[in-house]
Amino acid sequence: MASSLHVPQFPKTYWRASVSLPEFSSLDTSIKTDVAIVGGGITGITAAYMLTKQGMKVTLIDAGNILNGVTGHTTAKITAQHGIIYDELMQHFGADNASLYYQACSDAKQWIEETISKHDINCHYQNEDAYIFTNKDDSISKLETERKAYEQLDIPGEQLDSIPLNIPVQSALKMKNQAQFHPLMYLKQLVEEAVNDGLEIYEHTTATDIEYNKHPAIITRDEHRITCKYVIQASHYPFYDGQGFYPTRMYPERAYIIAVKTPETFPGGMYISADSPTRSIRSTSMDGEDLWLISGENHKPGQGESTMNHYDALMNYAENTFGISEYVYRWSAQDLTTVDNLPYIGPVTKKEDNIFVATGYRKWGMTNGTIAAKILSDRILNKDNPYAALFLPSRFHADPAIRKFTSMNTDVAKHLIKGKLEYTIDNIKDLAPDDAAVTRINGKRTGVYKDSENNLYAVDTTCKHLGCEVNWNAGDRTWDCPCHGSRYAYTGDVIEGPAKEPLNKVEL
Ligand code: FES
Repeated sequence: MASSLHVPQFPKTYWRASVSLPEFSSLDTSIKTDVAIVGGGITGITAAYMLTKQGMKVTLIDAGNILNGVTGHTTAKITAQHGIIYDELMQHFGADNASLYYQACSDAKQWIEETISKHDINCHYQNEDAYIFTNKDDSISKLETERKAYEQLDIPGEQLDSIPLNIPVQSALKMKNQAQFHPLMYLKQLVEEAVNDGLEIYEHTTATDIEYNKHPAIITRDEHRITCKYVIQASHYPFYDGQGFYPTRMYPERAYIIAVKTPETFPGGMYISADSPTRSIRSTSMDGEDLWLISGENHKPGQGESTMNHYDALMNYAENTFGISEYVYRWSAQDLTTVDNLPYIGPVTKKEDNIFVATGYRKWGMTNGTIAAKILSDRILNKDNPYAALFLPSRFHADPAIRKFTSMNTDVAKHLIKGKLEYTIDNIKDLAPDDAAVTRINGKRTGVYKDSENNLYAVDTTCKHLGCEVNWNAGDRTWDCPCHGSRYAYTGDVIEGPAKEPLNKVEL
């Protein structure tokens, strides 16, 4: 067991801990710009870089700090091997579209590589082969089917019965010449380039709505307006839905990462298991030593067991498989999956063709975020893009869409009802420091967090999005909504939408 190791008390990503990022003030007046980008992750920053290089006036806002959302919490694999996907894409979209998806990912990798080379960016970029592996009989045939899809689509790969990593494997599927990097060292340089080209960035500036006059105007929480010709919503869930019904067309999942040192030398390569629970493994360099990034434990947010159990499961896996000599960081990330597994990139609705979304990356944000930035920049610059039609949010592929749509909404309805009935303690005096519970105060379901200095923070647990009940995430000390993945700090402040307003505070 790994329990004797020191477990980091608070989550922190290695990426953010190992780079110092510039800071920007919040927006304190109304402004005009050509392109307003909401969200300072890989999509928003890459699009800002591309557009400012072409002379556009671009403004980027972020509700918190840039590079502190999913991009700051990624595994940072730059790969077209997005799990077992190509056979499924061929079945649902045809071989030509499956091939386009692979090409889009490959182009994104090449664009990143060329940009790193052009600006001589030191971001630990390394070409690596990617592997999907299994040690279970019933997954071998899935890998075999996926290998046939690779062959049909001319994807360079091969099926193997072992991998460089020292773990038991019955079968593996290799995709050659993929890559990994330090995402924030790379994006920091893109920020600097774009700012030199005129990009304006405002942090701690929350977009709440869009109003139309002749042009769209983003309304901020402080009631300032950003009037522009185009809006790019690169904020994970679109804050402006335009009746595109995005919450019903995507579902959120959380995943966990531990960064550990092991007695073994990392042999190179990037790995992901074909089986559940998912195990994803890569390494990075920290102070000249291998830092192993081991991730997995996907689940819907705000549901199920204590989130610390997921870190324990990863730690036990790492300890039993490789050994752990030091447990350095832990963090978690949340991403959205669309009903047909392809991201939504393009106009938010058919009618609103100057307001764009880029979302639903299914945890493959390095390539999908770069693809999105290129598609949306090309559209704004009136250039053709060979991949734009594939990712249009208005596409409709009935078979998988209807099935998942129904199951997701059944799940949401269950949580609307179930959440209202569950109370974990009825006396907040029982609460230990740095713990939280749900109780009833003046007839209202109330979440109470007690910090390590015994200060109490009480919030109404009704989510401000559509009224489901949030639950405590002990690993991150947040209130998470099981329905569409909104997340709130223990103070009630919004960390992640689709909710826009904080949870109501409750007087104790
Ligand atoms: Fe939709 Fe909470 S009800 S995120």
